[in-house]
Amino acid sequence: MIRSLATLTDLAAAVRQAVDLRAGWTDTSELVADQLRAHLPGPEILTPDQRLGRPDRVAGHLLHAEPDGAFSILGLIWRPGQTTRIHDHITWCVVGVLSGIEHEELFDDALNLIGTRDNPPGEVSGLAPPGDIHRIRNVGDETAISLHIYGTDITRLGSSARRYYN
Ligand SMILES: [Fe+2]
Repeated sequence: MIRSLATLTDLAAAVRQAVDLRAGWTDTSELVADQLRAHLPGPEILTPDQRLGRPDRVAGHLLHAEPDGAFSILGLIWRPGQTTRIHDHITWCVVGVLSGIEHEELFDDALNLIGTRDNPPGEVSGLAPPGDIHRIRNVGDETAISLHIYGTDITRLGSSARRYYN
């Protein structure tokens, strides 16, 4: 637990440095992705209980909220078969997979599927609006866990999603 906290503190400090460059959203997502690659923790950043996920939906755990609201770090857990809805985001976000495989689908504004990718452990990617409509599903038989960093205070807003699409 002490090691996990140290890892999280290091990661938050590195993300802070990237955010403080005050680049635009796309550049910030790339700078933060570089930092997450350099400081990617293992799944043990979450407690064994948190890593179980939940039966009814994708589980989320807030790990760090920067005091001035500049960014938040969350752990998300997909049990096999679980999926997010198709959504976009209120700000930039960076995702790093810690375990399992996350199947990601990307859509254009008309909700045409324009790309898919299978993100394995260690894969880190950033995205920023506009052009950030996606859905993440766990199509494997192992629980999928990833870290998500959003450029806002999730504790105040409740969600990183700007809109859901049906
Ligand atoms: Fe998302």
